[in-house]
Amino acid sequence: MQRTKIIDLLGSDTPRRQVLVNGWLRTRRDSKTFSFLEVNDGSCLANLQVVANDTLPNYEELRKLTTGSALAVAGDLVASGGKGQRWEVTASAVDILSVAPETYPLQKKRHSDEYLRSIAHLRPRTNKYGALFRIRADTAWAIHRFFRQRGFRWLHSPIITASDCEGAGELFRVTTLPPGDNGGSDPFSKDFFGARANLTVSGQLAAEMLALALGDVYTFGPTFRAENSNTRRHAAEFWMVEPEMAFCDLSGNMDLGEALIKEMSRFVMEECAADLELFSRFVDPGLKSTLAGTIEKPFVRIPYVEAVTILQRSGQRFSFPVEYGSDLQTEHERYLTEVHFKAPVIVYDYPKQIKPFYMRVNNDGQTVAAMDVLVPVIGEIIGGSQREERLDVLEARMQECNIDPSAYEWYLDSRRYGSVIHSGFGMGFERLLMMLTGVANIRDVIPFPRTPGNIAF
Ligand code: 4AD
Ligand code: MG
Repeated sequence: MQRTKIIDLLGSDTPRRQVLVNGWLRTRRDSKTFSFLEVNDGSCLANLQVVANDTLPNYEELRKLTTGSALAVAGDLVASGGKGQRWEVTASAVDILSVAPETYPLQKKRHSDEYLRSIAHLRPRTNKYGALFRIRADTAWAIHRFFRQRGFRWLHSPIITASDCEGAGELFRVTTLPPGDNGGSDPFSKDFFGARANLTVSGQLAAEMLALALGDVYTFGPTFRAENSNTRRHAAEFWMVEPEMAFCDLSGNMDLGEALIKEMSRFVMEECAADLELFSRFVDPGLKSTLAGTIEKPFVRIPYVEAVTILQRSGQRFSFPVEYGSDLQTEHERYLTEVHFKAPVIVYDYPKQIKPFYMRVNNDGQTVAAMDVLVPVIGEIIGGSQREERLDVLEARMQECNIDPSAYEWYLDSRRYGSVIHSGFGMGFERLLMMLTGVANIRDVIPFPRTPGNIAF
C-alpha cells in the first residue's frame, strides 16, 4: 500500500478507505477501550489523530508507547468527532517501527530556544522548528519562482575563490598545507591551488560576468564570513540571493529589491499560512501586521546624507555617534525603520570610503550608487549597488582601495569589452527568514548555525 503524507490526508475532501501513514508519536491519551495517538510526520504542523482500539492484536504494547516512537499506521480516514480536526484515522493496524526510550529530550513541555540550540539535531522535530524549516524550504522555492517569472536565470558562483569581493578581509582560508608548513618564501606555491584560496563572501563578481552575457541572472548559495561578531544577525555561514541585471540602473535595482521583499511577505502570509500562524501566536504577536505593512506601504527611499541628518536631529542617544562618513549601525537602522518612518527604508548614495571598490561613483565624486534596504528589527536585509562600468574610474577606485588590479584582470575585461551599466544586490536569506517569522536570532532560522566558537553538529 502506498504511504500518504498527513498534509495530503488532512486536506482530503472525502473519507478514504485503507490509508497508510508513517510518523512519530507526539502524545498518547488512553481511555478504557481505546487510545488516541497523535502522530506527526513533519509534512505539516498538524498531527493526525489515530484511534487505536483494544481489538488491535498489539494493543497492550500500544498503551505503553512513548513520545518520539516511530509508527506505521494503516486504517480508514473518517470524519472526526473531536474538536479542532476534521479527519482522524481508525487504525486497522499499528506497527511499532521503533520505540523511543523515556530519555528522549523532547517530552511534551515547551523548551527554550537556547536549550533547543544545544540539541540542534533534534529540534526540527518540535512544532516551532518544524514550521520554521518548512517555511525556509518553501521560501527558497518561492525565490526561484519570483526570479523565474521575471526571466532571471539561476547560475552558480564558485564557493572556493581567490578574490575578496567585499574587501573587508573577513575570509576563511582554504588550504591543504599541513599545520606549521608555511611554504617557505612563497607561502602558496606548495598549496593546492598554487595561490591563496578562500571561501567566498559573495557571488557577485561571478554574477556580474554572467549578467554581462545573459542579461538577468541570480546566484543563490552559501557564503562565508569570518566576522568575529557574536550578534543576533551575523552568522559565519549564511545563504545569499544575488540578482544581477545588465542595462539596469540604481533605481531599477531598488524596484527589484522592494518587489522581492514584498512578494516574499505575501508568499508566507498566503502560502505558508498554517505554519506562519504559530509564529504570530507564540513568537511575535505583531508579525502579521508588520508583514501586511511591508506588502502595502511603498518603501521610503532617502539618500545617506538625509538619513544622517534625521538621526542627528532625532534627539536620541545612540551608543555609536552618527556623523557623515561613518557606517550606519543596527541601532541607527532600527531608529529609521521603527521610530521615524515606521516602514522599510532604502538608503542610497553612501560615501565612497565606506563602500567596496566596485560601486559606481556618482557625479559628485564623493558618493557611490549604493543602496541598502533596511527593515524593522533586523536592520539591513539587502545591500547592493549600481556597478562601476567605466574602466578608468574602476581602476582608480581599486587603487584607492589598495587592490592589486593584476588579480582582477578577468573582471576588468568586462569593462574593456562591451561594458554597460548594470546593477545588483545581495539579500541575506536568513535575515529574510527572521523578518518573515519574527524569530529574533539568526541561529534559529538555519538548521545548523555556524558562529564564532560553534561548529557542533
Ligand atoms: O551588504 P553585503 O556585504 O553585500 C554584498 O556582499 C554584495 N556583494 C551583494 C551584491 O551586491 N551582490 O551583504 C549582502 C547581505 C546583507 O544585506 C545581509 O542581509 C547579508 O547579506 N549578510 C549576512 N547575513 C548573515 N550573516 C552575516 N554575517 C551577513 N553578512 C551579510
Ligand atoms: Mg552591506
